[in-house]
This record gives sequence, C-alpha cells and structure tokens, in this order.
Amino acid sequence: MKISVVGTGYVGLVTGACLAEMGNDVLCLDVDPSKIKILREGGIPIHEPGLDSVVARNVQAGRLAFTTDIAKAVAHGTIQFIAVGTPPDEDGSADLQYVLAAARNIGRLMTDYKVVVDKSTVPVGTADKVKAAIEDELSKRESDARFAVVSNPEFLKEGAAVEDFMRPDRIIVGADDEQAILLMRALYAPFSRNRDKLFVMDVRSAELTKYAANAMLATRISFMNELALLAEKMGADIEQVRQGIGSDARIGTHFLYAGCGYGGSCFPKDVKALIQTASGEGQQLRVLQAVEAANEAQKLVLIDKITSRFGHDLVGKRFALWGLAFKPNTDDMREATSRVVLEELFKRGATVTAYDPVAMDEAKRIFGDHTQLDYASSPNTALAGADALIIVTEWKEFRSPDFEQIKKNLKASTIFDGRNLYEPDLVKGFGLTYESIGRRA
Ligand code: NAD
Ligand code: UGA
Repeated sequence: MKISVVGTGYVGLVTGACLAEMGNDVLCLDVDPSKIKILREGGIPIHEPGLDSVVARNVQAGRLAFTTDIAKAVAHGTIQFIAVGTPPDEDGSADLQYVLAAARNIGRLMTDYKVVVDKSTVPVGTADKVKAAIEDELSKRESDARFAVVSNPEFLKEGAAVEDFMRPDRIIVGADDEQAILLMRALYAPFSRNRDKLFVMDVRSAELTKYAANAMLATRISFMNELALLAEKMGADIEQVRQGIGSDARIGTHFLYAGCGYGGSCFPKDVKALIQTASGEGQQLRVLQAVEAANEAQKLVLIDKITSRFGHDLVGKRFALWGLAFKPNTDDMREATSRVVLEELFKRGATVTAYDPVAMDEAKRIFGDHTQLDYASSPNTALAGADALIIVTEWKEFRSPDFEQIKKNLKASTIFDGRNLYEPDLVKGFGLTYESIGRRA
C-alpha cells in the first residue's frame, strides 16, 4: 500500500519504518528540514533502540523515503497518517494547530480518494474538525475528491517503540467509512496474525480510548506514589506492598512502580488535556485532577529529602546526578523529573555534575552553558567531589554500581534514589545512607 506519514517524530518515524517493514511503500514528511536532512543522510534524529536498523533496511529496499515536499507527500499515499505533535495549550488543552495545518494541506492538494488517519493523540471531536478543515479546502477549489477520516491512536512507549509497534496489545480503529475500515484492516493484518488485535469502533470512542489508557496508567503511578509516602511514614515498604497487590490478576504487576514522578511528552500533557476536555463539557474529573497534583508534588520528593538533610541553602554543595532522560532507553527529556530537580537545586545554589548514557546532548540543548551544571563521561566520574548522589532515571547501567567507590567519593555518604534501584540493607551495609521512595529507612 502507498502510505504517507505527516510528522516524522517519535510516532511518525516509528509508524513509517514499521509499515515499510511489512512491505508498504512509505513516504515520511516533516516541516523540519534538519530532521529530514539527518534521515536522508542515513542518521536517526532520536535515540530509539532498534529503530536505526529498521529505517536503514527499508530505505535500502526503496520502501521508505523522507521529504519536506508537502505536495509530493499528499500525492503519494492513499493512506495519510497525521502524526504531528499535540502539545499543551496555555490552559492544558491539546493544541491542534499542527494537526489542522496537516489536514488543510491534504485538503488543499488531494486529487483522489484518501484515508486520513489521526495517529496523533487528539481530543474527542478532533476527527470532525479534521473533516471540516479538509472539506473547507476542497470546497475552496470546488473539488469533489472523496476522503474518510479515521482515528487510529498509537500506544507505543518510548524506549520500546519498535517492539510495541510490531507487537501491539491492540490496534484501535475508529471509523465509519467501510472502504477505510477495509484498508485499515489490510494494513494492520501483518501485526495481528496470531489473534485479531484490531478493534473497530466509532471515532469518538477511539479518540477517548487513547486518553483513557494514558490517564489510567498515570493514575496507577500517582496512586502508588502517594501510597509510598504513606508507607515511609508508617514504617512499611512500598516494594513489598507492590508485590503483594500486583499478584492479584485484577490489579496486575505493570505500572505499579513508585518513584520520583512520571514525565515524558504524554502522561502529563494527556492528563491535563482530558481534564480540560471534561471541563469544557461542564464536568470535573476529580480523580485526574488529584493524579496531576500528586505527580507535580512527587517530582519534588527528592528535593524535600535533600533539603531535610542539608537545609534549604545549598550553596557550596555539589551533587552527582545519574539520569536525565524521563525514562531509560530514550534521550527525551520532555517533562522529565530531572529538569525539576535541577532547577530546584540551582535555585538553592547547589552545583551538579550529571551523567546520562544518551541524554546529555539534549540537556546541553535545554540548559545551555549553565554555570551550576557540568557533565561527566561516566557514572563514577560524576561522583568525584560530590556531597551526595541523586538518581532520577533507572538506566540498567546504574543497577549494579560499585558501592565502595560511591562511599569513597561522596562526602556525605548519601544516595537519594528516585527509582528504588537497590536493596536498602545492601546499600547501608557499605556505610551509605540510602534515601529511596516509600521504603524503610
Ligand atoms: P514529535 O514532536 O516527536 O514529532 C512531531 C513532528 O511533527 C515534528 O518533527 C514536527 O516537525 C512535525 N510537524 C509538525 N507540523 C507538521 C506539519 N504540518 N507537517 C509535517 N510535519 C509536521 O511528536 P511525537 O512524540 O511523535 O508525538 C506525536 C503525537 O503522537 C502526539 O500527539 C503524541 O501525544 C502522540 N503519541 C506520542 C507517543 C510517544 O511516545 N512520543 C506515543 C503515542 C502517541
Ligand atoms: C506512555 C504510555 O506507556 C504509552 O502506552 C503511550 O503510547 C505513550 O505514553 C504516549 O501516549 O505517548 P511513555 O511516556 O513513552 O509511554 O513511557 P512510559 O513507560 O509509560 O513512562 C512514562 C513515565 O511514567 C516515565 O517517567 C516513567 O518513569 C514513569 N513510570 C512508569 C513510573 O513512575 N512508574 C511505573 O510503574 C511506570
């Protein structure tokens, strides 16, 4: 099938590459010429495990190409995926300007039947807006070209995006056009071979399904984070509690890890957007309001622990920071807890030496030449001369450190661990003070 993907970010690039892998002829469009340049030169603009080889293989086979030429992209695909960003507006609602600009481009230039697929995460009712924008453009030039709008939200996780796309738990297709449904079924058949994973539903239910999934996952995390704070006060251990409840099949073991707050480009923005959608309908989503507030507070939990130990004036204190990305296996720092922790430490006068396996370039882009921040080439070199170690991302390479080396280096012999990486008794055995989330001190 001929496919165009509008927006070549995390979702667009993974979607394009994985659809090409199944034999489709895919053209990816982006308005950012620097991204397209990198891709055309054989590079990948993001860190995403396994993506480079899928892209390279399919470019080589002539099934995957990249362009900034809108007309070419509109002409290419019978199926036009819109995978552009939907960042939060000032009030938290999803900003649809990029989605609607993409839709208008399609309406302005299309000459034959198109299936326009909303892959971006968009509020309920967006498909109607996309339809209206395309109709408006068609009517301006008195075209009677036919099209259908489909909602096909994406559920991939950064750091596991290729795997998630190739082996999805489910594929949601919200559509009412029979021809479009047939095409979507055919397109996704190779991803759904062992069991039928494709659910066809009405467009609005599909749009809401995406927000419901992210909101549910965010709720689990905030719930566990609040429980972790209580566990600390009560002398209980949240890790034991997690295992104790996760074994109940109704609860399940995934996404129950307490930590220093959820980040990323999706949970924070999607929770806010769903709250705004509901408020536009005169409804308050009280549970989600609490989920969001709890997460904001949780991003400060490490700072609370640090100031309880060292006081609010941190002038002259130096911290080693392990992890900058919002989660492992990505260089993405959007809404990362590290950013909150760094800003709070800077405010109090501390200096920080940070290490992250892949996100240090992104941090340099965000923080520029900050006088209170420098970078280390390895976890161990970050420790030199530091008062304490702070961990905010659970990269595998932090899981089995040399505790003797840590003890030798840290002036205050303390680890503030926002991801509960170690057994408290083990760390204490090395003469270190270990402050983690929701466990017995
Ligand atoms: P991103 O910011 O990485 O990429 C978006 C790309 O779209 C950018 O490269 C931008 O230059 C391009 N773009 C903007 N307007 C354009 C236009 N008119 N024509 C062509 N290109 C245009 O965003 P992302 O992380 O891939 O997210 C995209 C959408 O998918 C969002 O709605 C997001 O919520 C959703 N989503 C993201 C993930 C994820 O893990 N990142 C997972 C599921 C869903
Ligand atoms: C999330 C969802 O998991 C995807 O299904 C969805 O497609 C995506 O958002 C999206 O809509 O963009 P992602 O943000 O890439 O994916 O990463 P997650 O693995 O979900 O982690 C999000 C945040 O939650 C991270 O900061 C992580 O550290 C935190 N988290 C996750 C916890 O604190 N505890 C957990 O148990 C799990």
